[in-house]
Amino acid sequence: VLPVILDGDPGLDDAVAWLLALASPEVQVLGLCAVHGNVGLPLTTRNSGVILALAGRTDVPVHVGADRPLLRAPLSAAAVHGESGLPATGLPDPVMPPAPEHAVTFLIDTARAHPGALTLVATGPLTNVALAFRMAPDLPALLREVVWMGGSTGHGNSTPAAEFNALADPHAAAVVFSSGTPLRMVGLNVTMQCVATPERVEALRRLGTRSGEVCAELLTFYAGVYRERYGMTGGALHDPLAIGAVLWPELLTWQAMHVDVDTQPGPNFGRTVCDLYSVTGQPANARVAVAVQDEPFFERLLGRLAQLP
Ligand code: BDR
Ligand code: CA
Repeated sequence: VLPVILDGDPGLDDAVAWLLALASPEVQVLGLCAVHGNVGLPLTTRNSGVILALAGRTDVPVHVGADRPLLRAPLSAAAVHGESGLPATGLPDPVMPPAPEHAVTFLIDTARAHPGALTLVATGPLTNVALAFRMAPDLPALLREVVWMGGSTGHGNSTPAAEFNALADPHAAAVVFSSGTPLRMVGLNVTMQCVATPERVEALRRLGTRSGEVCAELLTFYAGVYRERYGMTGGALHDPLAIGAVLWPELLTWQAMHVDVDTQPGPNFGRTVCDLYSVTGQPANARVAVAVQDEPFFERLLGRLAQLP
């Protein structure tokens, strides 16, 4: 069983992702770390507790992390995720208050307690991870790996060049990509292929569970946003695919390459510049997902969510 920490900004696709992890016996979720992102930190913290309550879990702590990016002004994605970040009715309240230890301290202490074994799955801006790497320079080499939903080998979704999690803290992403930590990137180039179509949303609803109903409601809201913004018939399962990459790495095709994060002001601010053809000769600093098997991924996701209350 892989020990994992989930760091993110729930956020409706973070919620589906975290439910998937909490339902999966291959991983042991040691804690949730909230970060600013889709909505502000007080809401991502609260939503973390809501997700645990939905999963019926009281054994997983929530740790509160960074309330803003390292340098840039905070972004919000409330237009995509709703003002609360979890646009669904009938959500339970958090059962447990957040743990007193800061998320960054928790990341460091947990990595040191599991040298070489801890997987950190980040599905939001990388602010907490970058702060942890600066506070504990031994950390990048201590982790089994970081798996990040963010960036893209191609275009962006928040600007033509930048994906939201990268754009929301490009400097933090630059710290992580230059850290030498084992890193896998699950970017828009694959996540945009995994769409919660109306049939899939219906399949979630038919699970007949509260968590299935909530996921269906969240993804229905999300579908409206994706129709309007991107002309798509369903929202992309970005963050769940990052958990899928940990559970079922064989469903994606991985290519080692050098990735640079553009931190210069201008139209490419926040872009993950992926050296697909190795034209720079720079050594690879990440394994990047370049293809995904969407159908088996969704089938497995559905099967796991069926295990939850
Ligand atoms: C990413 O941005 C957020 O809005 C989603 O939760 C996901 O992590 C996709 O670009
Ligand atoms: Ca997210």
